[in-house]
Amino acid sequence: QVAAATGHTVVLVDQSDEILTKSTKGIEESLKRVAKKKFADKPEAGAEFIEKTLKNLTTSTDAVAVVHSTDLVIEAIVENQEIKNELFKRLDKFAPEHTIFASNTSSLQITQLANSTTRQDRFGGLHFFNPVPMMKLVEVIKTPMTSQKTFESLVDFSKAVGKSPVSCKDTPGFIVNRLLVPYMMEAVRLFERGDASKEDIDVAMKLGAGYPMGPFELLDYVGLDTSKYIIDGWHSLEPNNPLFAPSPLLNKLVEEKKLGKKTGEGFYKYK
Ligand code: 3HC
Repeated sequence: QVAAATGHTVVLVDQSDEILTKSTKGIEESLKRVAKKKFADKPEAGAEFIEKTLKNLTTSTDAVAVVHSTDLVIEAIVENQEIKNELFKRLDKFAPEHTIFASNTSSLQITQLANSTTRQDRFGGLHFFNPVPMMKLVEVIKTPMTSQKTFESLVDFSKAVGKSPVSCKDTPGFIVNRLLVPYMMEAVRLFERGDASKEDIDVAMKLGAGYPMGPFELLDYVGLDTSKYIIDGWHSLEPNNPLFAPSPLLNKLVEEKKLGKKTGEGFYKYK
């Protein structure tokens, strides 16, 4: 959405037409919100912005068939090392020589993903934040194998889509998630111990620390499955780190398919 809105030609790839129809609808809804704000006094300019953006966006269920004409691939699939490796390995065979591969992974090592390809110098991390149309940050990750040219292209691309890039080494969670995920897990543990209600913890962090959302609201927003993948991955890397300990309550909710806002229920219920 943000790439298309800033004049880039985008092909959105997913597993089925059904998912793509849902995604396109979500993008249209989000664009309406952006347009309403950006062109508050000029509804015609807003409509033109939406139309122009959607013209830049096509969809496909066949990544291999579209990758031959891309300059940049941004992967944002399920948070699973093997599945990501498999995708990158396949795309590497069909993408042009110059094409840069980037992962939007929240917690996995970019180096390991890059190693599934033959283009380690043209591989980096581009980590966006929910909701992407609103959040200004992008973390740009350079592995020891990423070339300076690739890194600079990723920084330039981040700026071209209107974001503020920061850079970080290829370390678990980069900057934001390394601080944010342990904080949210501590909130769950506080609640699990019965020290405070989830509602009061959320109010406390909003009114006492100035956060726009409380930790339970944010967990539901990010997705409990995604949060669980992140913490499980880090726990397997550092089993003795108490900050990375899995939570029985989070595991239970995920098992019950209560994944947060996207499924209508997580820590809270949504209409
Ligand atoms: N698309 C477009 N515009 C949006 C939007 C979206 N998806 N979501 C919110 N907005 C804009 C709209 O302009 C909206 O105005 P509208 O209601 O008139 O349409 C405006 O934001 C305000 O939204 P709301 O009134 O719904 O609520 P808030 O004032 O609380 O703002 C928020 C929403 C920007 C999401 C804010 O609550 C916030 O900043 N929350 C914290 C988000 C955060 O921490 N993100 C990081 C998560 S971690 C992550 O993503 C990393 C990953 O790896 C796990």
